[in-house]
Amino acid sequence: MKKIMLTGDRPTGKLHVGHYVGSLRRRVELQNTGDFDDIFIMIADAQALTDNADNPEKVRQNIIEVALDYLACGLDPEKSTLLIQSQIPELCELSFYYMNLVTVSRLQRNPTVKTEIKMRNFEASIPVGFFTYPISQAADITAFKATIVPVGEDQMPMLEQTKEIVHKFNSVYGETLVEPQILLPDNEACMRLPGIDGKAKMSKSLGNCIYLSEEPEEIKKKVFSMFTDPTHIRIEDPGKLEGNTVFTYLDAFCRPEYFPEFLPEYNNLDELKEHYKRGGLGDMKVKRFLNNVLQAELEPIRKRRKEWQKDIPAVYEILRKGSEKAEKVAAETLKDVKAAMKINYFDDEELIKMQSAKYMEE
Ligand code: TRP
Repeated sequence: MKKIMLTGDRPTGKLHVGHYVGSLRRRVELQNTGDFDDIFIMIADAQALTDNADNPEKVRQNIIEVALDYLACGLDPEKSTLLIQSQIPELCELSFYYMNLVTVSRLQRNPTVKTEIKMRNFEASIPVGFFTYPISQAADITAFKATIVPVGEDQMPMLEQTKEIVHKFNSVYGETLVEPQILLPDNEACMRLPGIDGKAKMSKSLGNCIYLSEEPEEIKKKVFSMFTDPTHIRIEDPGKLEGNTVFTYLDAFCRPEYFPEFLPEYNNLDELKEHYKRGGLGDMKVKRFLNNVLQAELEPIRKRRKEWQKDIPAVYEILRKGSEKAEKVAAETLKDVKAAMKINYFDDEELIKMQSAKYMEE
C-alpha cells in the first residue's frame, strides 16, 4: 500500500512554536525521510471560514502567513504538495455524500467541537458548517487517500470520525476509501505545549504565544517573562518541575548538543532538572539556557522565512501549482466514490442498457 501523508492548519494567524513541536517539525522530518509516495499539506481556509464567516478577510490575509511558516520550517514544495482547501471543490462533494453516513448525535459527541463551541460562545447558535466540519475534515483526509496524519491530540476526534466514515462507506458501497492513521507527538511537552504564562495551550486570543517569525529580542523578552515555579523564591529553594513552563519548553526543544554549546556545567537535561529540584539553581540561569536553545532553533526558520518573504508571488505560485495537483488526485477519489455509490449514471452502460430493456417491449 502507498504511504501518503496529509495534514493541515486553519489560516487564522501566524503559526507559533506550539504548532512547531506539535506537528510541523515532525512533518518536515517525515518529508525528509523520503519514505512517502505523496505528501499533502493543506491550508484549511474553508474550515477556517466555518467559524469566521463574518471575517473572511482574516482568513484571506493569513493564507500567505501560514504558507511562509511552512516554507520557513523546511517544507519543500519539491517534496510536499502545499494546497489551499477551498480550491479543491471535490472536497465539498465528498462531504455532501459523507454527511448521510453521520448522525447529528454523533457530531454532538465530538469533544473538540464541544470545546470550540464553548470557546466561541456558539451554544445558542451553532453555524451548521461549523458543526459539520469533522465531516469535511474526513473528506480532506480521504480525498488524498492519506495513510498517515500527523496532528496534535485535539485532532484525535476528527480522525476517529474519519475512520467511522471510511468503515461505513466501505461497508455500504464496497471497499473504496483508505483508513488513515493518526501520528501524535512523541512526548508530553510537544503534545500540549503551554503558553508562556503556563496556561493550558498557546493561543493567539490569550496572547501567550511565541511565533515562529518572532524577532530575537521578542523571544528573549518572552522567555524571561515565562511562568516557572512560584514557590521557588530563593536560589537555594528546591524547585518543582511540574507545571514549570521553562522546563516544559526544554523538554520540547532541547537537544543534547546544546549542553556543550550553552551550558557545559551539565551533561544533559536530567542533570539540570535534578539540580533544580534539589535547590541551588536559579530560574534566571535556566531561562538564559532556554533562550539560547530557542534562539538556535528559531533562527534558521526566521531566516528562511525572510528569504521567501522577498518573493511572495512565488509563494502564491507554489500554492496554485500544489492546489492544481491536489485537485487531480481528489477528482480521482471522487470518481471512485461516485462509482461505488453508482451515481456515475453516464458512465454506466449497464444501467442504460437495463433501462432501455425495461421499455423495449412497449
Ligand atoms: N482541524 C485542523 C486544525 O484545526 C485543520 C485541518 C483541516 C486538518 N483539515 C485537516 C488537519 C485534515 C489534518 C487533516 O488545525
